[in-house]
Amino acid sequence: MKLAIVPGDGIGKEVIPAALSVLDATGLDIEKIPLEIGYGKWERTGSAITDEDISIIKECGCVLFGAITTPPDPNYKSVLVRLRKELDLYANIRPFSPLTTVKLPCAKKFDFVIVRENTEGMYSGVEELQENAAYTTRVITRRGSERIAERACALAKTRKNRVTIVHKANVLKSDTFFRDICIEVAKRNGISYNEMLVDSMAYDLILRPERYDVIVTTNLFGDILSDEAAAIAGGLGLCPSANTGDRYALFEPIHGSAPDIAGKGIANPIAAILSVKMMLEWMGRTEEAGCIGRAVDSVLRQGTATPDLGGSQSTAEVSGAVAKLVKRIQKR
Ligand code: NAI
Ligand code: MG
Repeated sequence: MKLAIVPGDGIGKEVIPAALSVLDATGLDIEKIPLEIGYGKWERTGSAITDEDISIIKECGCVLFGAITTPPDPNYKSVLVRLRKELDLYANIRPFSPLTTVKLPCAKKFDFVIVRENTEGMYSGVEELQENAAYTTRVITRRGSERIAERACALAKTRKNRVTIVHKANVLKSDTFFRDICIEVAKRNGISYNEMLVDSMAYDLILRPERYDVIVTTNLFGDILSDEAAAIAGGLGLCPSANTGDRYALFEPIHGSAPDIAGKGIANPIAAILSVKMMLEWMGRTEEAGCIGRAVDSVLRQGTATPDLGGSQSTAEVSGAVAKLVKRIQKR
C-alpha cells in the first residue's frame, strides 16, 4: 500500500509528522511517498503543484494532506481545489461529534456529519476578473448533485435514515435545482429529509446541533458551516475530514496552515491524527482506526493537550502520548 504525504505549509508541516508517528505506531506496512506541494514551493519554483505530483498521487491512490496557504493573489490557484477536481474527490465528509473529554462552548451532545459537494458550486474555477467587476460562476450540475446526494443517503443508511438538505433556494436558482435533485435522490433511497436555508442553518447549528444527523450541501456552504461546526465541537484543531471520490481519497484536518501559530510547535495534532483514523477506516483497517480513537480520548482525558484546548503540551508531546497508547492498546 502506497500513501502520498503532503504536509504543505505552516502547521501542516508540524501536524503531519505528528500524525505519521501515530500511523507508524499501528505497525501497518504502508509505504510513504513524501511530496512537496504548496505555497512554499510556489515561492521557490513558481509552481505550487506539478503534473508529476498529480501523477504520483494518482499512482498512490490515497493522500494524507496537511494544509496549504492560499494567498489572496489572483495569479495563485488553490492547490486543494485543483486536487479535488483532478482526483474527482466529489464528497467531502466532515464528522462532528465532540470528544467526551473536551470542554465545549455550548454543553450539548450532538453527532452529525456534513457531506459537502467538493468539485463545483462557488469553487467551480469559472471566474473572470475585469477592471470594474469580478465574476465567479456558481456551477451546479445534475451529475454533481446526484452523486453527492447519493453519498449522503448511503451514509444516512448507516446512521438514522435521514438527511437535512441545506441550500438558499429562496434566492438562488442553482439551489432550487440542487434541492430538487437531493429530494429526488432521498425519495428514491427511502431516506427521510428536511430542508434548511443556509442562513437559518448557521443559526440553528449553534442553538440546536443535536437535531441534525447527515447534512448535505453545496461547496461553499459546506466549507463555512463546517468551520462553524468545528467551533461548537471544541475547535478547528480537533476536526478531521475525508475527501473521497470513486477512485481516490484525500484525508486532511479541516483547518488551514494557521500562520499565526506556525513554527511554535503548539498546533493541535488531533485533527490530523483523526484524519489518519478516517483514512484507516477507508482502507478497511477498522481495528487500528478504533485504537487511534480510543488513544486520542484517553490522552485528552489525562489532560495532555495543546494550548488551544487549555493545555500546555507541544504538538509532539500530544502525538507522542497518542502513539505510545496506540502501541499499548494493540499489545493487549
Ligand atoms: P486556519 O484554519 O489556518 O486558522 C484559523 C484559526 O484557528 C487560527 O487562529 C489558528 O491558529 C487556529 N487553528 C487552526 N488549526 C489549529 C490547530 N491544529 N491547532 C491550534 N489552533 C489551530 O484558517 P485561516 O487563518 O483562515 O487560514 C490560514 C491559511 O490557511 C490561509 O492561507 C488559507 O487559505 C489556508 N487554508 C487552507 C486550508 C487547507 O489547506 N485545507 C483550509 C483553510 C484555510
Ligand atoms: Mg475551510
